[in-house]
Amino acid sequence: MALIHWSESRHGSKIAELDEPKKKFVELVNAMEGAEDHQLRPMFLRLLSHLELWLEREDRFMEEWGVPHREHHHEEHAQLINEVRYLLQRIENGLYSLGHTYIKARLPEWFQAHADDMDAELHSYVSANVSAA
Ligand SMILES: [Fe+2]
Repeated sequence: MALIHWSESRHGSKIAELDEPKKKFVELVNAMEGAEDHQLRPMFLRLLSHLELWLEREDRFMEEWGVPHREHHHEEHAQLINEVRYLLQRIENGLYSLGHTYIKARLPEWFQAHADDMDAELHSYVSANVSAA
């Protein structure tokens, strides 16, 4: 069973630039379920580079659109990137069980909480204030 189920109503914004990288994150996390120990490092590396691309791009959009309270949203993004960097170091030191637990527990939990709180607020701001949306 997938760790995260994409839901258009819960996760989608109807803006491809926001939704496509978010769907890619869901794909990457779901593909990490059941990973072997030796697969963790390359998978975390791929996840990290995707997160840097996706979340930094979302931060730039928020800046451009003048989204209120974006500092807190930005902090949640930065915190996740830092966590994944830390986990990568732990995995490189052979602490594989930490990596497996992080995939199953923290990544799906972060995604749902972030979607319901920060991203939901962003989507409602965008649909009310950004003409291209
Ligand atoms: Fe976000």
